[in-house]
Amino acid sequence: MWTYHNPVSVHSGIDSLNQLPTLLRGRRCILVTFPEAQSLGLVQRVRSSIGAQLHAVVDTVLPNPDVSWLAPLYDQIHREHADVECVLALGGGSAIDCAKALLCATPSRSFAELVHILKQGGSLAAGAHKALIAIPTTAGTGSEVTPWATIWDQANGCKYSLHQACTWPEAAVIDPALMTSLPAAPTLASGLDAFSHALESIWNVNRNPVSMQFAVQAARQVMHTLPTLMQDLGNVRLRADMAHAALMAGLAFSNTKTALAHSLSYDITLQHGVPHGIACSFSLPWVMEMAFGADDAVDAALCRILDVESPQAAIARMHAFLHALDVRTDPAHYGVAPSAWQAMVRKAASGPRGRNFIRSIT
Ligand SMILES: [Fe+2]
Repeated sequence: MWTYHNPVSVHSGIDSLNQLPTLLRGRRCILVTFPEAQSLGLVQRVRSSIGAQLHAVVDTVLPNPDVSWLAPLYDQIHREHADVECVLALGGGSAIDCAKALLCATPSRSFAELVHILKQGGSLAAGAHKALIAIPTTAGTGSEVTPWATIWDQANGCKYSLHQACTWPEAAVIDPALMTSLPAAPTLASGLDAFSHALESIWNVNRNPVSMQFAVQAARQVMHTLPTLMQDLGNVRLRADMAHAALMAGLAFSNTKTALAHSLSYDITLQHGVPHGIACSFSLPWVMEMAFGADDAVDAALCRILDVESPQAAIARMHAFLHALDVRTDPAHYGVAPSAWQAMVRKAASGPRGRNFIRSIT
């Protein structure tokens, strides 16, 4: 028995941003985006496309949305724009994650109440939540087709996972023309985040035949496209290929969640500031080594992705793929001493994402 579910309507292609008026159907909206969106002309493009339907622009989103600046923003949005029906999220994973937090309507309309619900693992009642249209400008997060968001609390050294019925986007607009100006470092990190999402949904206890199919296609597409794209960042066809790989990875892990490599990544990002896409991908050869032998179909899928015949060759190929992209696979490079690595793996395996891993680690 298995179930696959994804309610997001996907609209993809060059200049698909022009479909915004159709997708909004006359509703009022807030644009949540990153600071450079103004100078890149993206805010003006949205404004000229939807006119007076755009009621406010939040362009202060920084990487890893933190409760310290989300709280006053949330309270302001729900005080001043309670009647706005829709949030447009334009940007990378942080903009979309931020929008997912802002669209949730708690009974008292306060961010403190939302954090309290997240800490308890509770569910928001159906209510006046705003709808989300996600417009990614990076190919990686997959957040445009998942309900997941990560809210960070740097002051307390922790993070909260946001996942509610209302945080599924209503629509995803995937326009590769919006991605051609992304610099090399975030292109690499986001591409490897997508790679990690695909693999994490394969060595996952929640996998199903549909998620496996999306994941294998996504991982193969990343391996084929990302090295070429890194040499030709302005190539819109390669950007489209990576956007579709990230989309397929998102469709896969929207139903499985992530697993051990992501569980390992959170402390590395919190303690050492390593970008998420690197933190969740440098360990992939090690995690794959642990995954082999648990399930024949998973082993076959991993070998197919890496175009090899044996686990040993797959592990070697994975190290080589990352090294060729200048990504070190040695945990010590990320601040984890060799003597601390096994303890870190055991701790990560016991976390909520780690328990999705196909093997138990003791
Ligand atoms: Fe990720």
